[in-house]
Amino acid sequence: MSESIIIRRYQDNDLVACRDLWRELTEWHREIYEDSTIGGDQPELYFDKHLATVGTNCLWVAEHQSQVIGLVGLETRDEELFIEPLVVASDHRGKGVGSQLLEKAKLEAKQQGAKSLSVRPVTRNQRVIQFLFKQGFQTLGHIQLFIDFTQSEWKTGPKLYGCNFKF
Ligand SMILES: CC(C)(COP(=O)(O)OP(=O)(O)OC[C@H]1O[C@@H](n2cnc3c(N)ncnc32)[C@H](O)[C@@H]1OP(=O)(O)O)[C@@H](O)C(=O)NCCC(=O)NCCS
Repeated sequence: MSESIIIRRYQDNDLVACRDLWRELTEWHREIYEDSTIGGDQPELYFDKHLATVGTNCLWVAEHQSQVIGLVGLETRDEELFIEPLVVASDHRGKGVGSQLLEKAKLEAKQQGAKSLSVRPVTRNQRVIQFLFKQGFQTLGHIQLFIDFTQSEWKTGPKLYGCNFKF
């Protein structure tokens, strides 16, 4: 399928498709955390907020047979460049689309003269972390630790510096 994929800059008429992709991104997080409340009632509207923050020049889509099936973006925070968001429609995953989107983002980051490119997957996004590792994201930056006051159930692992974390 990769031959028929076009990676191009976001255009105004991609809005609805990109909202749908943002919803899929949220649905994936709901699935891995078994929590249907993540993202609230209209998670797709976070795309609009993101668009307003980064602008159209920092978003690229994957198009297949005139349909937008993937989205990647670059966002600068505190002078660091991040991948935000990265998502492929669930029925098109595992066919190389995500890799092509990431290649585009890496190229753009280099062309912008960025010293590094970061991505912040949640710890439970195991398959995606493995995918990102293969794509070259092999240096660990910040790690976010938290105390859960709600007493939710967490899974066991991974282990780092001798500490057995839950995730
Ligand atoms: C991460 C994601 C964008 C990758 O896109 P993709 O088009 O499936 O990626 P590719 O086809 O180029 O590569 C697939 C690789 O990702 C892995 N992968 C991770 N999650 C997958 C999924 N849900 N379906 C298929 N493959 C998946 C596969 O194991 C595969 O690895 P391999 O090359 O060793 O076989 C896509 O899985 C996705 O949208 N996931 C949900 C949203 C998300 O978690 N985004 C990242 C937030 S940081």
